[in-house]
Amino acid sequence: MRMSIFGRPFRGRQLSFAPHLLPPLVVFCCQEAFLHSRHQTSDLAITFLPSVITLVGTAQFSCHWLHDLVKMAPTTSDKTISNSIYTSPTPPLQDVTNQTLDPERGASSSKKELINFLRGWPSPSLLSSSILQAASTALLSDPSLFVPALQYGPDPGYQPLREELAVWLEKQYSTSTKSEEICITGGASQGLACVLASFTDPSYTQTVWASAPCYYLACPIFEDAGFGPGRIKAVPEDQQGGIDIDLLDTLLQKHEAQHHQPTHKGAERKNAGPYRKHYRHVVYLVSTCSNPSGTTMTLEKRNRLVKVARRHDVLVVSDDVYDFLQWPILPASPSSDLGPLLPRLSDIDLSLGPSEPATSSGKWFGNVISNGSFSKLLGPGLRTGWVHGTPDFVMGLSQTGATRSGGAGSQFAAALLAEVMKAGELEKHLQETVRPGLRRRHELIMETIKQELGELGVTVAAQDGDRFGGYFVWLTLPGGLDARVVAQKARQEEELIVAEGEMFEVRGDEEGAKFRGNIRLSFSWEEEHKITEGVRRLGRVLRGLSGETR
Ligand SMILES: Cc1ncc(COP(=O)(O)O)c(C=O)c1O
Repeated sequence: MRMSIFGRPFRGRQLSFAPHLLPPLVVFCCQEAFLHSRHQTSDLAITFLPSVITLVGTAQFSCHWLHDLVKMAPTTSDKTISNSIYTSPTPPLQDVTNQTLDPERGASSSKKELINFLRGWPSPSLLSSSILQAASTALLSDPSLFVPALQYGPDPGYQPLREELAVWLEKQYSTSTKSEEICITGGASQGLACVLASFTDPSYTQTVWASAPCYYLACPIFEDAGFGPGRIKAVPEDQQGGIDIDLLDTLLQKHEAQHHQPTHKGAERKNAGPYRKHYRHVVYLVSTCSNPSGTTMTLEKRNRLVKVARRHDVLVVSDDVYDFLQWPILPASPSSDLGPLLPRLSDIDLSLGPSEPATSSGKWFGNVISNGSFSKLLGPGLRTGWVHGTPDFVMGLSQTGATRSGGAGSQFAAALLAEVMKAGELEKHLQETVRPGLRRRHELIMETIKQELGELGVTVAAQDGDRFGGYFVWLTLPGGLDARVVAQKARQEEELIVAEGEMFEVRGDEEGAKFRGNIRLSFSWEEEHKITEGVRRLGRVLRGLSGETR
């Protein structure tokens, strides 16, 4: 596509501007884009705005912010721009399933409103525009803040956010956290990709062991990093909840006994350089409020897993994106009664000190990282998160090639988030909006499941502790009912989208752990009245199917 800037060809990305020119330039550019798009005189609406967006960082959030800033009138070009911004093409099997009907799956002729229990997004009522508006005003009015926010940044990320996060995380987990243990990322997904790029080598790293059922969108990230079919293995959860550690230990021992050669035959090793190392294995899990099963690993299991990781040169990646979305299960208890969170696996690893044997470089990379994200706290469009690990690991991660070219991802959003945290607004938003909103939805979905699905023999996982959290409930269907059939019928007859268990089998090792009789329901996206209605619709589908098979 031809790129133009004020009618002149634009080729490079590396434009430099004097710092004081950045904010007025952004506003001016947006006004230009607005004028051109109104008069529809050029291709500028399509080609120019992305250049502006590149200028202030590639974060999704920046696009929305710019869109708001220019307050564009609803012209044809405006629609083109906002469509391209808000509705990027949606590949199949995503938590981000479009609300529109998919003709290939067959829509019913009824006028029922679609209810989407697949979508793992926060509902619009859990988002935080006013907080971000106030933070942007503060940020963009002060050159000492907006200049670093709009420039390339340091490799480990925007320092004030690292510091704010260290203080906040220390309070949440009641464990010591230092800013040098935190690397800012473009969110948990991008963080995982960078971790794999820097700390694994498919010619040396043997296997990714994934807790099953598994957050299915992690699998393509492993595949992109070179762990294709047969290189990701399922390790089922056990009765206690969370990955079966004894089985994992046995599988690791067996693997090492059979594959003791250091590298894959004939394959060239990547050069880890002085700041990184390659691990022999990776374990991937969501240790708290798992997606999809909702389970949380006990402290005892956490301690054991860290020991196993240390024995076998494993890097454990714990996606901790739901840790701060927990509430007491007892209806009368106030949300503030929760008490401290369980320590992260990375806290346990750090508290044990350097593992033996230490690396020849004298560095301590550790065996666990916590992969955190602001997506579920303030909005996924911010595309900002963090990795917590040893200072050496954080330093190594910050040396990932794509990070070194310009610094950690989402610099502008990171600066905005630092303002939000400085003002105490993150904690307030979680306490006043997010946790109570999710807790009400969860209570409602559980109550309706009991009323509507209990007598049909449907059971729900992981609901017996003193707390619950996250976005999902995991159902087991009765009497060998096939979840694929249930999901298809729900879509065709009831305008209801649910996630069949098969989606959460580990890609390439589907036989390792099967979930054909399970369904995941997300309660984060739909508003409360649709949650009740959705479960009723599922009840009708199940009653219809059990009638058919009788
Ligand atoms: C377990 C898990 N990890 C990662 C993500 C994505 O996080 P981010 O938006 O920070 O990339 C999700 C989102 O649904 C998730 O459930």
